[in-house]
Amino acid sequence: MKNGSNSRHGGRITESKNQMPEFAIEAKGIEKIYFEGEKKLQVLKGMDLMVKNGEILAIVGPSGAGKSTLLHILGLMDEASSGNLMILGWNTDELKEEEKDALRNKYIGFLFQFHYLLSEFTVLENVMMPLQILGISWSEAKDKAEGLLNAVGLKERISHFPSQISGGEQQRAALARAMVNAPALLICDEPTGNLDIERGEEIKDLIWRVARSQHTTVLVATHNPEIAKSADRIIHISDGRISQFLDSPIGV
Ligand SMILES: Nc1ncnc2c1ncn2[C@@H]1O[C@H](COP(=O)(O)OP(=O)(O)O)[C@@H](O)[C@H]1O
Ligand SMILES: [Mg+2]
Repeated sequence: MKNGSNSRHGGRITESKNQMPEFAIEAKGIEKIYFEGEKKLQVLKGMDLMVKNGEILAIVGPSGAGKSTLLHILGLMDEASSGNLMILGWNTDELKEEEKDALRNKYIGFLFQFHYLLSEFTVLENVMMPLQILGISWSEAKDKAEGLLNAVGLKERISHFPSQISGGEQQRAALARAMVNAPALLICDEPTGNLDIERGEEIKDLIWRVARSQHTTVLVATHNPEIAKSADRIIHISDGRISQFLDSPIGV
């Protein structure tokens, strides 16, 4: 993940949007081509995607279909080769790099298959970190982080280091860190990929609960049919395209 700059450098992004637009994401004609020497690999071949504010969208498709590539682009961690992307009402074509960093730091949370907690910091310190990057005071950051950690059932684990808690707990801490600054958009890439079925179900329930309570838009790439089925909507991607839009619940 790119290291974001401080939001103070983000110009208009720092001014809170009082009103979120109807669509959290409006993507048109998104293409992604990777070049490796002479070799050209077109991973995304023109994707159009509209995601409503507050919607929980599952993204399914075979390994290598481009799910992570799409999520990286939508999360402003990577650039499309062509196409237009509006995120939370901002036209990303018109944003400078530092404004994109600010937009990402302030409004987008990430949850991956691996927790990426920093091993030398406690669970509480890990969850406080995104707020401290935004310049929020230590005491406010601590209050908010404790609140989120309570919400994900980690009240008794806040002083532990990541290596001292279980895999399911690590992922819950990562969720608390992703949601602590109440992002408008949460991007999850195989969030249960490393967990057994029961732990995976727990994390899914927590993501849904925290996201619904904060009216967060969620994009979740998953191989887990149970997760996909409980989303508001499912898209299936294959061969670089969105091949199906499906209303949940379905079999995947
Ligand atoms: N940085 C990169 N450079 C070259 N090829 C890449 C890169 N990242 C991903 N790919 C390729 O793009 C395709 C899609 O990958 P990915 O988006 O990770 O798929 P998924 O998440 O659906 O499994 C794969 O063929 C992968 O090897
Ligand atoms: Mg992937």
